[in-house]
Amino acid sequence: MNQTHLPAVAAITGTGMAVPPRVVTNDDLAKLMDTSDEWIRQRTGIEERRHVDVGVGPADLAYEASLKALKSSGLQAKDIDFILVATLSPQQYFPGTCSFLQAKLGLGTTPGLDVRAQCSGFIYGLELGQALIASGQYKRILLVGVEVQSVALDLSNRGRDTATLFGDAAGAVILEVAKNPEHGIKKVITHLEGQYTDKLGVKFPSTVGGDWIRPEHIADGAHNPYMDGRFVFKHAVTRMPEVIGEVLQNLHLSIADVDLWLFHQANLRINEHISATLKIPPEKTYNNIQKYGNTSAATIPTLLDECARAGRLKAGDKIMVTAFGAGFTWGSALIVWGA
Ligand code: ACO
Repeated sequence: MNQTHLPAVAAITGTGMAVPPRVVTNDDLAKLMDTSDEWIRQRTGIEERRHVDVGVGPADLAYEASLKALKSSGLQAKDIDFILVATLSPQQYFPGTCSFLQAKLGLGTTPGLDVRAQCSGFIYGLELGQALIASGQYKRILLVGVEVQSVALDLSNRGRDTATLFGDAAGAVILEVAKNPEHGIKKVITHLEGQYTDKLGVKFPSTVGGDWIRPEHIADGAHNPYMDGRFVFKHAVTRMPEVIGEVLQNLHLSIADVDLWLFHQANLRINEHISATLKIPPEKTYNNIQKYGNTSAATIPTLLDECARAGRLKAGDKIMVTAFGAGFTWGSALIVWGA
């Protein structure tokens, strides 16, 4: 087949991130609920997280991250021809956060949409972005993962099992047609197992049950996250290595071929468990859960941005990004770094 007829490969040509300035330490939370710095660190690895101030929404964080990603790719907002926003904490019920971001970027009628795949949302976004570029329909895609989760947390004893975990952040990447065909997103594999929606989620507001949300729902904390932590933990440490194996097998690569492993940041213990299972040396991993907690769909792009700015991503490096989250959703992508 003539090379020019092969579908285009998408490469990440720019990264950016934004976190709100307000740092919330474990000790700060211990003043609000029965918890301790020691419990949170030992169980999760989290030391602090960021919470937005009133008036700051997902589109604001997404905008800041997007501008930085555009700058690092040498593009301007007007060069973008499609926008994907992965989030579980939308600015409004509808329209999607993408609409608010698109308007802030001054993008007129440029199309885009929200991706609802929770902590795996960015991996799903990579899959969609790659497919849209391979189709020839779009050439420069802005892919953002953004969360403002702090407002949905119950910062009292009742919410301590989830309130200590989540933080606010945004990360963005620019996807363009790879100039070097050796570079780019080589494979993305995603999965969904819908039978466990009762194990992790936020129940209200809901379109089921007649009322959008009632005062008793709020009194019961049904608008805050629920999670069966141990159940989720067990599935995460099983499914993440499984999908990594699928990606490696598909590309005829081995664990040793991967230069950098970026795992979703739900719990440092999950990531240590996976590294031990797959025999991945610590120097080939990078974590930021200590600083930001679990930032759901924003996690993977913030890891990519921090590694890019620290000079840890060299052209030709093979990077495996993997996530697991509510839905259950999970997925993994192998990216060869470089434009
Ligand atoms: N401080 C102090 N004690 C606490 C806290 C807290 N913040 N939270 C819970 N506890 C208590 C519990 O009440 C329980 O007490 P008991 O033994 O008297 O009943 C005890 O600590 C142990 O609770 P567990 O929930 O069993 O603790 P575990 O060791 O499982 O750790 C955790 C909890 C950190 C949530 C862990 O299960 C986990 O990380 N699970 C996976 C999270 C994940 O991967 N989520 C997916 C992504 S999120 C998304 O998609 C939106």
